[in-house]
Amino acid sequence: MSLNLACLITLVLLASSASAALIPRQDKSWTVALNDRPIRAIVTQNSDGAFSFDCQANGNTVISASNIGFSTSNGDVGPGFNSCTAQDQSYTVESYNTPGGRSKSHYAPYQTQTFDCKTSNGQSSSVDIRVGIDGCAFRVGFPDGQYTINSESSTWTFAQNGASFLMDDPENTSYEGEWEQSDVETGLSNSRNVMMPYLVDANSAAANQWILLEEAAMDGSFGGSQLTHNSGSLAYQFSFAEGGNVKVDGSIFSPWRIAVVADLTNLYRTTFDADNLPSTNISDVSWIKPGTVSWSWLPEHNSPSNETRQMEYVDLAAELQWPYTLVDEGWDASWVPDLVRYANSKSVDILLWYSANQWNSTDAVASNIANLKEWGVKGAKIDFFLSDVQAIHDQQTYILSQMAAAELMVNFHGTPPPRGNQRTWPHLLSQEAIRGDEHVADAFRNTVIPFTRNLLGSMDFTPSLYTVTGGDGGSQQQQQSAQCSVGCGLGKSIAFESAWQHIGETPEVIRNYTLAARFYKGLPSAWEASTLLPNSYPGKAFAVGRYYQSSDRYYFGAVFNGDAQTFELQPTILPTDKSFILDIVSDANDDDNDRTSIIRTIVTDVSSTSTVNVHVKSNGGFSAIACETAGPDGGCLADL
Ligand SMILES: *[C@@H]1O[C@H](CO)[C@@H](O)[C@H](O)[C@H]1NC(C)=O
Ligand SMILES: *[C@@H]1O[C@H](CO)[C@@H](O)[C@H](O)[C@H]1NC(C)=O
Ligand SMILES: *[C@@H]1O[C@H](CO)[C@@H](O)[C@H](O)[C@H]1NC(C)=O
Ligand SMILES: *[C@@H]1O[C@H](CO)[C@@H](O)[C@H](O)[C@H]1NC(C)=O
Ligand SMILES: *[C@@H]1O[C@H](CO)[C@@H](O)[C@H](O)[C@H]1NC(C)=O
Repeated sequence: MSLNLACLITLVLLASSASAALIPRQDKSWTVALNDRPIRAIVTQNSDGAFSFDCQANGNTVISASNIGFSTSNGDVGPGFNSCTAQDQSYTVESYNTPGGRSKSHYAPYQTQTFDCKTSNGQSSSVDIRVGIDGCAFRVGFPDGQYTINSESSTWTFAQNGASFLMDDPENTSYEGEWEQSDVETGLSNSRNVMMPYLVDANSAAANQWILLEEAAMDGSFGGSQLTHNSGSLAYQFSFAEGGNVKVDGSIFSPWRIAVVADLTNLYRTTFDADNLPSTNISDVSWIKPGTVSWSWLPEHNSPSNETRQMEYVDLAAELQWPYTLVDEGWDASWVPDLVRYANSKSVDILLWYSANQWNSTDAVASNIANLKEWGVKGAKIDFFLSDVQAIHDQQTYILSQMAAAELMVNFHGTPPPRGNQRTWPHLLSQEAIRGDEHVADAFRNTVIPFTRNLLGSMDFTPSLYTVTGGDGGSQQQQQSAQCSVGCGLGKSIAFESAWQHIGETPEVIRNYTLAARFYKGLPSAWEASTLLPNSYPGKAFAVGRYYQSSDRYYFGAVFNGDAQTFELQPTILPTDKSFILDIVSDANDDDNDRTSIIRTIVTDVSSTSTVNVHVKSNGGFSAIACETAGPDGGCLADL
């Protein structure tokens, strides 16, 4: 909380030194913008005291916020605010590093307008409106006390209709629903609540303008939210997940309600959510280690109870220079220490699966942590939270704080999404909240989730190469292959960012695909930089370039939805003044019905301005490594 506290103190100092104006109860207007930047918020307060703002890009309104307010057992906190004082605007810069993510160093300026107000019954509250280089956001500060927040009236209204990309989660508890395309006016055709992140093609005069609705700040002081929408309307009103309410104890803020506004390239760079969370209190992060993980549960559900089989997954990790093996549901405390000794002798660390109800009391958390430390296990995957209400965020925050103190890493499954939390809790290496490879593949989903869910933080999709969940060799396997060729399967390991990347595949299948095994060997899972590549578009194609400084190499991953095609790869992430060897592993250039053959192509003299044609099968994909100095066989792939 230190950074936010510092901001608050700055604001308070500014307030006391400046002569703050009292706002009369009539329409007034303010502009919030960073110097020389195209995004601005035009804020008004109407005669009822309600705040609204237009979020503009280059002078065009793309989305507006209105009715900013909440209903509480302590009286209404907005939309009508009284006796508001506009503070001087503040300029802040969020500059921080993370061990994982699309990039590891972050720098983002923000301009904030704060209004100090009274609620309907005369208590102190506030409204913050914040503008960054890539969007607008607001939040409300609540009166101190003990009471319940029951509902929210705040509403986002899009300036016009446009294509939208969203997830339909009928359970609305674990964010594992299927992704679909709709439009703003239709929302979900079954009238269910729309969940965030919600991606919209703003379809404005300025082409290539996208809006991503998201929220930040899930520290247990609030629950998650969804958006209620009536068919035909451009308006989306906040509602609390699962009809939950919020118990206030003390002085809290609502989560930031964020509209990222950017072209696709900058949308892929956004960290608006993480930027506006508290900086981490963990000063020594050297024990926090991203890495690729071997993992047996996906292809063989019963294998985690078999220590001998787990040793074979450890052997795979050692062979491929992956730092971890995750043992999922079924492990036995009697053999875990033995497996850890075996793994450590091969420079592999062990991670263990748990159910969340084994972590539901302070005693249970302490006892699990004591076991993990005693056994030498480096982290836990904790599963089945299955809710987005405040109590779950409270439980997760408690677990994260205790695990941080013990220097143990965390992966949450069956959970709401991270919403930028990896800034505050960098030992949170991944989080599920995604319909991953444990459900049969879907080519449309593959090309949407990098622009949506993955922008909230690491996404534990568990990319498999070929094998469907449970090792089913029949119709499910055919569907999996039809929706994602082996070229695509390998491409997912780069396309989908997860600081712990669990490869859900058997040692036998991986060894059988020699090119894949060579690509997987030493595979990084955390990046100095990531750049969305040209010709990417949600629902059709996603191609990304990533830089890994330790080996001074560039990695590329691409996944596609639709017919076989020749993709023009433009490796724009490469530095402009150097020439590279590009080593590509892609779908074999022959029969589209052969979903499993992959080939290697080595291209020389590639630079940031090159275009390299790569053939992909229907629902295909590829991966590639760029290096400056070739290995013995003229390429960049590792030897086995
Ligand atoms: C970080 O430390 C500050 C000061 O001790 C504390 O108020 C805050 O709650 C801590 N933040 C987290 C995320 O633990
Ligand atoms: C969300 O899930 C709850 C519990 O399963 C259900 O009662 C509710 O109708 C769902 N809400 C929406 C909007 O889908
Ligand atoms: C355990 O794994 C080993 C090694 O793969 C295998 O030989 C054995 O049959 C497995 N045991 C059971 C009970 O499945
Ligand atoms: C915690 O989980 C255990 C095991 O499922 C259950 O018996 C217990 O009631 C739970 N306790 C709380 C406080 O939820
Ligand atoms: C290995 O590849 C061969 C030839 O493509 C295939 O017949 C066999 O089933 C594969 N084995 C495994 C374990 O994938």
